[in-house]
Amino acid sequence: MTANITLNADRVAGTIDRNLYGHFAEHLGRCIYEGIWVGEDSPISNTNGIRNDVLEALRRLQVPVLRWPGGCFADEYHWKDGIGPRGDRKRMVNTHWGGVVENNHFGTHEFLMLCELLDCAPYINGNVGSGTVQEMAEWVEYMTFDGVSPMAELRQANGRKAPWKVPYFGVGNENWGCGGNMRPEYYADLYRQFQTYVRQYGDNKITKIACGPGGADYRWTETVMREAHAKMDAFTLHHYTVPGPSWQDKGEAIGFTEQEWFTTMERALQMDELITRHSAIMDQYDPERRIGLIVDEWGTWFNVEPGTNPGFLYQQNTVRDALVAAATLHIFQKHCKRVRMANLAQTVNVLQAVILTEGERMLLTPTYHVFEMLKVHQDAELLDVHLQSESYELEGRELPQLSVSASRSSDGRIHLSLANLHPTRSAPLKLAVRGAATEGLRLSAVELTGDAMDAHNTFDQPERVKPRAADALVLESGAVHGSVAPMSVTLVTLQS
Ligand code: AHR
Repeated sequence: MTANITLNADRVAGTIDRNLYGHFAEHLGRCIYEGIWVGEDSPISNTNGIRNDVLEALRRLQVPVLRWPGGCFADEYHWKDGIGPRGDRKRMVNTHWGGVVENNHFGTHEFLMLCELLDCAPYINGNVGSGTVQEMAEWVEYMTFDGVSPMAELRQANGRKAPWKVPYFGVGNENWGCGGNMRPEYYADLYRQFQTYVRQYGDNKITKIACGPGGADYRWTETVMREAHAKMDAFTLHHYTVPGPSWQDKGEAIGFTEQEWFTTMERALQMDELITRHSAIMDQYDPERRIGLIVDEWGTWFNVEPGTNPGFLYQQNTVRDALVAAATLHIFQKHCKRVRMANLAQTVNVLQAVILTEGERMLLTPTYHVFEMLKVHQDAELLDVHLQSESYELEGRELPQLSVSASRSSDGRIHLSLANLHPTRSAPLKLAVRGAATEGLRLSAVELTGDAMDAHNTFDQPERVKPRAADALVLESGAVHGSVAPMSVTLVTLQS
């Protein structure tokens, strides 16, 4: 059956915050160290210690916002250990992630320099689990106060005269788990207390972010919203796509079956229900939608690559990950009136990374290509799309075969992205555009697909999965006809 897609170009359904395309980098495995930071003396080409190949690749993605330093690491991180001359910085054990020594060479100055080099907004996650109110207050003062104060003077003594802009600050991470195993009642009180001292200095306006639930923990949302909604600007949600039968066996990153492919899609699409239900609770306390929902950890989580440190969470990234990325970004866009930011876990070498490195070598993953193709949706107007298509069925279970989202950017171009979740069946389609003049419209399209369900890039074959022109789509009489390949992500651009 031909899928019928109607794009209503005159119905704007919201604005897609660029921050939905955000990223997350934790002190975990080889994400920060080697993946981003190699140090000034490294033989790997770098800018002030940050590797240039990764920097350039991230620049091309137009990363809008980057979250740091964790994750679980955030609630064990003491920021003063990461300032001053690097040789004098305290070493600590990274207890969550492999028990390795953390030398604190990448700290506040290095992170904020990275954000400046990427021209992205920093999102700093503070420590509630094992930190103090004073420590959090001083960190904010250190980074953002433009005046005479002990922390501003310390910053200047460490070489940075002007304060930075820090628009996003998280008050704890997963405080229901690794961030202190708290009950929501207790966290809500701590949140109210800690956030009091997250000061707004000068014209630095901080969006204060409260720790939200993991997955379907609606009691957490209900309680924290009830007790603390007036004191927060944003609230988080974490949801990972884990296709395996248990946390001990999360499923393989490559060499999986179609059942595992299907389960992966099914679990990724649960994001829609999670956002819908958490938003409904938020609506009760915040009907005006002042408070943003921030999905600051999401992505696939598989068994680590055999032979690697289990605490480093290194996994390969295939065309399946690309499909998860596209379908999830579409869900965020659909909910853009409530969801204001999302941060894929994690940028380099960890979980659903956009970049993998091996010493001086680097590759772009299929997920990277999806973020690059779909970046045109950033800050664009979300357009209403109506989709009628077949479903993808397997052993009595059913999923939509296609996932779709469309937007109009400020230059007037219309972009429609399509993910075909079926690994073996192409999708014939007709895309009708209504509510806009179609004479003189021109079409271009690119697609990303693979020659196997687990097609991926390696250091020896780094371009096996990459976008190519999609020539199976044509524009005729104001409508797009053709078909999209199995397991593909396609970006259609219409411009006059
Ligand atoms: O992203 C890996 C970990 O997953 C984060 O540190 C933690 O917040 C979550 O449980």
